[in-house]
Amino acid sequence: MDDYQKQIVISMVQGEAVKGAPMRELTTLRIGGKAELVVFPMDVVSLRSVILFAQDSGIPYLVMGNGSNLLVKDNGIAGIVINLRKGFHALKLVNDLLRAEAGCSLGRFIEYAGANSLSGPEYLIGIPGSVGGALSMNAGAHGKEMKDFIHSVEIMGSDGNIEEIERDNLEFSYRSLRLKKGAVILSVLFKLNREQKQVIDERKSGFLKSRRETQPIDSYSAGCVFKNPQGVSAGRLIEEAGLKGLQMGGAVVSPLHANFILNSGDATAKDVMTLIELMKKRVYEEKGIECELELQIVGED
Ligand code: EPU
Repeated sequence: MDDYQKQIVISMVQGEAVKGAPMRELTTLRIGGKAELVVFPMDVVSLRSVILFAQDSGIPYLVMGNGSNLLVKDNGIAGIVINLRKGFHALKLVNDLLRAEAGCSLGRFIEYAGANSLSGPEYLIGIPGSVGGALSMNAGAHGKEMKDFIHSVEIMGSDGNIEEIERDNLEFSYRSLRLKKGAVILSVLFKLNREQKQVIDERKSGFLKSRRETQPIDSYSAGCVFKNPQGVSAGRLIEEAGLKGLQMGGAVVSPLHANFILNSGDATAKDVMTLIELMKKRVYEEKGIECELELQIVGED
């Protein structure tokens, strides 16, 4: 992407645009090189212009929310990173249907639902992502997944057209939602249940307590690194392979939950990737099970 192209994108975005933005500041792992250009579009018109320009010019673009399931490589990201956190975070209640824009934090959405005596998503409390990010990977906890609470999703296709797709027409699976290439989730319409606020609050406290006891939620991490293989916790497998506390540079296998890799402060993406390979290899040798990544790795080699 040349300077002229960057200037064009900057001029078409209503919202902030940062050249050479350090991705470590936009991800919960606090790792990653610089992105050529990060834009924070404030409206649909800007978002559409950027996407169409990128397509026409053959410039890659990556849409991100809270960066909580993302490992950005040390050489950064070529092309445009579109961050929806600043411009797309509204919440709107219409009867019992709650619309949340994609960049809204999942935590804020859960609070808002609970405050309006609407239950369901409190099962997911403590997941650090955005609504769009959590839906795009069908995030889950305590036996519930994002797909369990939704009515429909508003999506902008790579052609810039917007459509509302109902849940039954979406392809969800464990930690995955299949969308067309280049599509962007704009907002999610949730169908929730009426329940007493106090009951929802108690459930929330219980889930938060158990998350705090079993997961390193105050450390820099990107949540679970691997998907759970059928019927077994990847964390348990990694622990049983004797890898808790294993360190590679600044990256450490969490001593609390072995499916979390922590950045102890100065970890590089290379440290994390080396640790991932080692964990996969050792679990395969010890248990004969192949672990599949949940974490998304992006960026330049
Ligand atoms: N366990 C260990 N050692 C560990 C971790 C877990 O022995 O290091 C054991 C636990 O003692 C327990 C069993 O494994 O008996 C299951 O553990 P846990 O309840 O922590 O659940 P999990 O299967 O490890 C899944 C999700 C989490 C989600 C929790 C709670 C995946 C990959 N992980 O973890 O999701 O928060 O259930 O519902 O599906 C994420 O996706 O990023 C994530 C953190």
